[in-house]
Amino acid sequence: MSTKAKIEEMRLYVNKISKILADLEGQGQMVGNPYEGTLEFYQEHFFVPLEEIDNALPNVTCRHLDLKMDDFEAFLRDYLPWHEKIAKPLAHKKKLELFISFSLLGDRAFESYLDAAGGGFSYAGTLKAKQSHLQDMEIRDAVKKRCGPDVNYVESSLTSIPLEDNSLDAISSHHAFEHFQGSADMDFIREAQRILKTDGRLVLVPLFIARDYLEMTNLAEFSNWSTEEKNRLFDPTASLPGKKSGHFARIYNLAMFQERVLSKIDFSNFAAELVEVTLEGRPVPDPVVYATHKVSNFNYPYRAFMLTKTG
Ligand SMILES: C[S@@+](CC[C@H](N)C(=O)[O-])C[C@H]1O[C@@H](n2cnc3c(N)ncnc32)[C@H](O)[C@@H]1O
Repeated sequence: MSTKAKIEEMRLYVNKISKILADLEGQGQMVGNPYEGTLEFYQEHFFVPLEEIDNALPNVTCRHLDLKMDDFEAFLRDYLPWHEKIAKPLAHKKKLELFISFSLLGDRAFESYLDAAGGGFSYAGTLKAKQSHLQDMEIRDAVKKRCGPDVNYVESSLTSIPLEDNSLDAISSHHAFEHFQGSADMDFIREAQRILKTDGRLVLVPLFIARDYLEMTNLAEFSNWSTEEKNRLFDPTASLPGKKSGHFARIYNLAMFQERVLSKIDFSNFAAELVEVTLEGRPVPDPVVYATHKVSNFNYPYRAFMLTKTG
């Protein structure tokens, strides 16, 4: 590591410790590190209930959706027959993310469908939609092999997607939106509105809204922040994804969700919904399933953000 990178790493450590000390003195905004600690700690200090979001964001309709196990199993059988490659547990969060978007897209998914920032796990190949696109910066040959020759592979940034205006019925993105760096979250919201047809729908799952706006990384050299220092968290222990693009995650609070996402939506032509999901009444992810393999506290509960083109 270069001297400059070491200094930056130390500076970020000092920043993190100062924040925790300020909190202990009752001056800070954040109470420790929301990424660490117990789920109960997270829920007490960072969790924002759906009802509060509903009251605070008049342009967003909030609702609950209870998914059924029979439908989930049928989805896995028909569209993810290779799902054990993801992980053994049936109610694994990745499988559920895919099922959540599939359920919320409805029949639109069988028309023209895009999995945005699709990475390695996608139902684009098995869906047999009239037109399926799988998009990411780079798509591995193994993924192309699994999804097959009928999928159109779009290797691009999602800040500028090479698909025509008004050309898609359905877009989903799974566990990716929170990793879009710089202005990519805002740019993607604009791009999705551009490429959706009337009655077309975007589903982002999960969507994280907490008490504090936060950008975090486990990369000492990280420089692509889009927030002031008090909202930055350097956590070398965080298991954040990212290779060439860097390891990064963004958590909104209500104000920043309004500023970065909702203010970019043309509400004269789009309707926005936030859907909190359970499976047969159990939380998603289910803390029982994750009892031995902790997932980030931010994952609770799973909520999907939907934009539907009405005009
Ligand atoms: C955590 S992975 C999720 C991948 C996949 N959707 C899944 O569920 O496994 C995040 C993905 O976002 C992609 N990504 C991040 N920023 C991007 C950008 N600006 N343009 C395109 N893809 C981006 C990464 O390449 C990565 O594949």
